[in-house]
Order: sequence, then C-alpha cells, then structure tokens
Amino acid sequence: MILAEGMLKPGALKGKNILITGGGTGLGRSMGVYFLQLGANLVITSRKLDVLEETARKMMDENGGSVIPLLCDVREIDEVEAMWKAAIDRLGQIHVVLNNAAGNFISPTERLSTNAFNTILDIVLKGTSHVTLTAGKYWIAQKQPGIFLNIVTTYAWTGSGYVVPSAAAKAGVLAMTRSLAVEWAKYGIRSNAIAPGPFPTEGAWSRLLPGEMAEKFDPAKKVPVGRVGEHQELANLAAYLVSDYSSFVNGEVMTIDGGEWLKGAGEFNNLDQIPGTMWDMMEASRGKKA
Ligand code: HXC
Ligand code: NAP
Repeated sequence: MILAEGMLKPGALKGKNILITGGGTGLGRSMGVYFLQLGANLVITSRKLDVLEETARKMMDENGGSVIPLLCDVREIDEVEAMWKAAIDRLGQIHVVLNNAAGNFISPTERLSTNAFNTILDIVLKGTSHVTLTAGKYWIAQKQPGIFLNIVTTYAWTGSGYVVPSAAAKAGVLAMTRSLAVEWAKYGIRSNAIAPGPFPTEGAWSRLLPGEMAEKFDPAKKVPVGRVGEHQELANLAAYLVSDYSSFVNGEVMTIDGGEWLKGAGEFNNLDQIPGTMWDMMEASRGKKA
C-alpha cells in the first residue's frame, strides 16, 4: 500500500545527525526509523533509558545505521544541556532537532490541579524552549546552520476543550516556530512545524481515548477522508521538512489530518448527515422535479 511507502530518494538524509525528543516511542520512533532508512544518524531522548535502549537496538538491527539513546527530561534545563553536550561529543554535530516530546491527558479544566496544568506546560512548552534555546545558542555560536521541526496539533490554533494545557502549550510552540523562523533565518536556522490529526499510538490513545472511549468516539469518524493517519505518511512529511529539499520552507505549519479540523470549522459541514431523500424533498418543495 502506497501509504506505507517511503517517499524520498534513498540517501536523502545521508550525513545528517538528527536529535529526536521523545524518540523512543510512537510517532517519534516512526519518524526516526524513516530518517535512519534515509541515511541519517539519530540521537533519541526521553525520560526512560530502558525504552530508548530497546528502541535504538531494534532500529539498528532492522535498518543499520547509528542510534544513540540519551536520557533527558526536557523539563530540566540542566539535563537538556548535558544531553546536548553528550550528543555533540558523540557525533561532533547535530544538524536537525525534532521537538516531539509531549505530555497530555483529557480532563475538564476545572478539575485540574495547578500541578497537573503546569506538568503539561512544562513538558510541551518549556521542554521545547529548553531544547530550542540550547541547540540554537550552540548553532549560532558555532556559525553552523540548523533545522528545527516541531510537532504541534491542529488545536494549537483552534483551541480545544478538555485538553486546555496541551492546547495552550502547543499554541506557544507554534508561535515560537513562526517567530524563530524569521529571527534566526539570518543564522541559517530554519523552523517549521507539523500539525498531525489522529495517528494511533499507545501514548496518545491510552491518555486521550481511555477505556471504551476509543469505540464511543472513533476518531476516524471525524475525518473527511474516513480514516486515521498511517505513521509512514507523517514520516514522509517530516523527512521532507528536515531534508535540504525543503530549504525554502520556513515558518510553515503543515497540517496532515485528512481534513479533520476544517470539518469541525465549516459552518455547514454537518449537512453531510442529511440523506439524499431529504435533499430530494427540499428540491421538490422548490418546485424542481426529484
Ligand atoms: C487529571 C492528571 C492526569 C489525568 C496526571 N494528572 N494524569 N490530572 N487527569 N488524567 C496530574 C497528577 O495528578 C499530578 O497532579 C500531575 O498531573 C502530574 O502527574 P504525574 O503523574 O506526577 O506526572 P508525570 O509522572 O511527570 O507524567 C506526566 C504525564 C504522563 C503527562 C501525566 O501522562 C506522561 O508521562 N505522559 C507522556 C506521554 C504522553 O502524554 N503522550 C501523549 C501525547 S499525545 P497532582 O496535583 O496530583 O500532583 C498528544 C496528542 C495531541 O499530545 C493531539 C491528538 C489528536
Ligand atoms: P508518545 O508515544 O506518548 O510520545 C511522547 C514522547 O514524549 C514519549 O516518548 C515520552 O517518553 C516523551 N516525553 C514525555 N515527557 C517527556 C519529558 N518530560 N522529557 C522527555 N521526553 C518526554 O505519543 P505520540 O502520539 O507519539 O506523540 C508524539 C508527538 O505527536 C507529541 O508531540 C504529540 O503531541 C504529537 N501529536 C500526536 C498525535 C497523535 O494522534 N498521536 C496527534 C497530534 C500531535 P518518556 O515517557 O520515556 O519520557
């Protein structure tokens, strides 16, 4: 099936060293696998070294190449700086940072403790700013170009109830992406974002569709193209955005959601629930033959 096929030329990322936060699981892992297949070397980071080591081993067994697992809680600037130094010591240079790590859960906002709200802001917004500042300062000091790719969501601009800390934090990440795309372009640093719609992962599904919710609120039903995303589809877009083929793309957020958010936004989009027979009756009542 073409949805599961890689899109870029073999070797398209050869020579690129790519750091992926949250690279041990889910979408970070899927994007990493494809980067590796295209010739990149990887550093994958998160809070769980055992998960990272297992992922790195599998990635290298199945695809060859080099994957370095490094422990780092992105909420802690000291850990981020130590991780960055270790990555540079091991690889000499990092060319691309994929800010992918996130935390999320559903809850009525009035039920959230201050710590719950802050936990999400700290992982998503401050975590991204810690990694971005650390990498950006280094690249600027070294006079080296760099590429940021930040994973946001479509509710970064629409907002969404029941995931308010995540929406606020992702909106901040999107603003940071667009702001730095302009400010740091003079240093040869590009910044872009991807806003994925629903892509099944253990991490997201267990927290956003717990229990029977996955059946009751089938995410595919909200998507005009009638399905959820394939990880390879996202990996193809991400590989393009971290490759030199996208050198003129800067400050962009690319949505990959099968039209999901627009469906919710268009005033009359819910009219697709009206059956053909009802349209026939409406036409007839205007005097037009059915
Ligand atoms: C309300 C909750 C909660 C929940 C935790 N808390 N889960 N509050 N509802 N479901 C509260 C806790 O009670 C605590 O507050 C505070 O949040 C911190 O919780 P901890 O468990 O101590 O935090 P921590 O161990 O740091 O774990 C962080 C986490 C966890 C975010 C809570 O879920 C995690 O590790 N997530 C990482 C992976 C993840 O979330 N992936 C999904 C990304 S999906 P108190 O006051 O009690 O101390 C995504 C998709 C978006 O972003 C778009 C989809 C279409
Ligand atoms: P996931 O597998 O849970 O990925 C989240 C990753 O972030 C995990 O590897 C986790 O690893 C890491 N992480 C969490 N807190 C961290 C911290 N403090 N420091 C470092 N790493 C941390 O979920 P996913 O679905 O693949 O999500 C990946 C990205 O896609 C996220 O940015 C998410 O918002 C975005 N997204 C996903 C969807 C979707 O449908 N899946 C839709 C829109 C956007 P540890 O627990 O080991 O730290």
